[in-house]
Amino acid sequence: MNQEKFIFKNNEGISYTSFWEAPSNIALIKYWGKKGNQIPSNPSISFLLSKCFTRTKINFSPINSKKDPWFTFKLDGKIKLDFYKKIETFLENILPYVPSLKMHNLMIDSSNSFPHSSGIASSASSMAAIALCITDWERQINSEMTEETFKIKTSFLARLGSGSASRSIYGPIASWGKTSHLKESSDRYAIPFKQKIDKIFDGFCNTIIIIDEAKKEISSTEGHRLMNDHPFAKKRFYQANQNFFEIKNSLATGDIEKFIQIVESEALTLHALMMTSSPPYKLFKPETIEIIELIKNYRENSKTPLCFTLDAGPNIHFLYPKAFRKDVLDFIDNEIIKIFPSIKFIHDQVGNGPKKI
Ligand code: PMV
Repeated sequence: MNQEKFIFKNNEGISYTSFWEAPSNIALIKYWGKKGNQIPSNPSISFLLSKCFTRTKINFSPINSKKDPWFTFKLDGKIKLDFYKKIETFLENILPYVPSLKMHNLMIDSSNSFPHSSGIASSASSMAAIALCITDWERQINSEMTEETFKIKTSFLARLGSGSASRSIYGPIASWGKTSHLKESSDRYAIPFKQKIDKIFDGFCNTIIIIDEAKKEISSTEGHRLMNDHPFAKKRFYQANQNFFEIKNSLATGDIEKFIQIVESEALTLHALMMTSSPPYKLFKPETIEIIELIKNYRENSKTPLCFTLDAGPNIHFLYPKAFRKDVLDFIDNEIIKIFPSIKFIHDQVGNGPKKI
């Protein structure tokens, strides 16, 4: 798609209300490091979730007076000033592509089905939900827009809010970032992963172990920035491409051992990159490491194909085939809850895509 295709039609004066549910996603190959205007330094691939989502309603109405605010933002029905900066930056970033936005007041009402700012990618689902409402608004005057174009444009916009949000438009698997291992891949938007996927990944489960709900001390934006002059950056970007190729193969063949090896290595690499940044920092907690050890022992002893991944935070995502759900839930009850009785869980699974409400 050429650049002009991303310029939205003139919606000036069009009032509209749009309401969307966008799920979060969990990366298997991690996006960590970017250049220019949200161009990823390496390709990434993710599972879309289903129960961890953001619901956002936007009412677009023409601005009548200069005194009208550009937008208002409510989370769970309450004005949330701490999110204003992030939303304003997002709207400013997409303004060159959606110029009529400036002539409208946006009343944005959001709610999350899970704790925000805790390393469960709430920025992915929240930015994707806003982008869906905006492209849906354009669709009101652009009736020729196909479903495919709708999704490409939405993913393009979402990317400008949060890179990982570009992937929240597609389930069950999405990929973002140009790579020679996927012909149609793009740096500017995510695409649905249309390669062969073995049935072992159907309804793949993701249980999130919430170790800490507090806001992260270092934002992802800062983490990406620290990759700019990271001593291991070049090798890391090369490795991510290699891992992309390997995971594509394991998804096709159902080679679960290889899948586990890559997914866990990606998670640990992400945190190793943080610890070797300048200044260095760490986002995991002692419980994160203890639970990782428990998983490893459990997998070795029971031969259950359970693995973990981490986002930019201390919480752990357990990933496992649907057929092993009962075994993993027993493991959680018998081994994790016993040691960490106050830990919370979200039992999720791979989902198919955002929904219009
Ligand atoms: O989309 P951002 O800027 O919040 O970065 C997300 C980065 C990771 O969640 C750590 C990895 C990923 O690919 O989702």
